[in-house]
Amino acid sequence: MPPTDTVPLHRLTFARPAPPRRTTLPDGTTAWLFTRYTDVRRIINHATFHRVLLPAPGAGTTNLVDAPDSLTKKDDDQHLRLRRTVQRSFSPRAIARMTPWVSTVVDQLLDALVDHGPPADLVTHYTQSLPIAVMSRLTGVHDVSDARLRHWAEHAFAGATTDRAEAADATREFTDFTVNLLAERRRTPGPDMISSLVQAADVEGGITEPQLVNLVSTLIVGGHDTAMTMLGNSLLYLLDERPEVWARLGSDEAAAGLLTDRMLHLIPPGDPDEHPNPLRATEDIDVGGITIRAGEIVVVDRAAANRDPAAFSDDPFSDLFAPLESPTLAFGGGRHYCPGTWLAHAELHLGLHRLAARIPGLRLTTSADTVEWRLGTITRSPLHLPATW
Ligand code: HEM
Repeated sequence: MPPTDTVPLHRLTFARPAPPRRTTLPDGTTAWLFTRYTDVRRIINHATFHRVLLPAPGAGTTNLVDAPDSLTKKDDDQHLRLRRTVQRSFSPRAIARMTPWVSTVVDQLLDALVDHGPPADLVTHYTQSLPIAVMSRLTGVHDVSDARLRHWAEHAFAGATTDRAEAADATREFTDFTVNLLAERRRTPGPDMISSLVQAADVEGGITEPQLVNLVSTLIVGGHDTAMTMLGNSLLYLLDERPEVWARLGSDEAAAGLLTDRMLHLIPPGDPDEHPNPLRATEDIDVGGITIRAGEIVVVDRAAANRDPAAFSDDPFSDLFAPLESPTLAFGGGRHYCPGTWLAHAELHLGLHRLAARIPGLRLTTSADTVEWRLGTITRSPLHLPATW
C-alpha cells in the first residue's frame, strides 16, 4: 500500500464497508475488523466490549493516551467517576455559557489577523492560537507559551515513529508541570475547570493521583490539539477545493453549523491506522453475522463506517450544507463518547463562520498537493497555511 501520510485527510479513501474479517494488529495480535456503520455503532455502544492494553509499537506507553492510567483505557467504576467529573465541565449548558467568550476569543484573533494584514500563516495566527486560547481560559493555564504546549502535545500524542527517549523526556517534563499545577489548584482553587476537577475527584474518591494527572494532562493538550487539527484540515479543504461555499459559510450561521457537522464527520483527525484502539469481548456476542467469542479482540474503523453508503449519501462531499443522514461516529460512542464534542463543535463552527464573514476574499497561497504536514503524532494537519486576501 502507498504511504498515506502526505495524502490530504479529506482525500483518504477507505475500503468499501464489508462483513467482518480477520486482521493482524501492529503488535501481531489477531483481531476481528469491523467497517460497516451498523456493526461499528453497535460495538462502540455495547457494554460487552472493554478496552484492552496491547503493547504499542514505537513510542510505547510514554504516549499519554495509551498509558494504563488514561481515561480511554478504563471501563470500570473509576472510569465512570473520572468521566462524571469531566462531563460536568462540558455539558451543553456549560458550553452555552462558554460560547460568548469563545466568540470573543475568535473576534480578538480576527482583529489581530486583519491588523497583521496579508500575507499571513493561518496556523500561527488562527488554527493553533484559537484552540490554545480557549483551553488556556478553561484550564486557567496562562503562563506557558504556545510553543511549549505544542511541544508537549506532539509527544503526548506521539505516533509509532517518534523517538522513544525524546517522547519520554517531554512526557516527564509535562507530568511534572501537571503535578505542580494540581498542587497549586488544591492550595488555591479558582473558577477554572482544573480546580473543579480536582475538587470533584477529591470529593468523589477512588481516583488515583496518576489517573488525575493523566486526565488533566490529556485535557490541557488534547483539548487544543484535536480542535487545531480539525480547523486546519477543514480550512485546507474549503479554501483549496471548495471556494464556492465561502460566501454562504460567512453569511449564514445556521448553515455554517451544518457544514461543521460534515467536516467533523468526513475528515478524520489523523491516519486511521495510527491508532486502532482495540477492544476485547467480555462474553460471546453476535455482530454483523458472526459470533465473537469472549476474549476475542475486535477493532472498528470509524472513518470507513462514516462513509458507509448504507447510512450516508453516496457522495457525501457534494452538498456541504446538507444535514447528516445518520449520527456521526467521529466522536466515538457509548461509555467513551467524547466529552469535548460540544466544545469542539462550537470552536469549529464559530471559527469557520466568523473567519469567512470577516475575510470574504481569503485564499491560500499553498494547495492540498504541496502543503507541508505535521507528522509523527496520532493527529495530522498542515504545518503552515500561508494565505492572502
Ligand atoms: C474535533 C475534535 C475532537 C474529536 C474528533 C474528538 C474525538 C474523540 C473520540 C473519537 C473519542 C473516543 C475515543 C475512544 O473511543 O477511545 C474521544 C474521547 C475523548 N475526548 Fe475528544 N475529540 C475532540 C475534541 C475534544 C476536546 C476539545 C476535548 C476536551 C476539551 C476532548 C476530550 C476527550 C476526552 C477526555 C476523551 C476520553 C473519554 C473517555 O475515554 O471516556 N476531545 N474524543
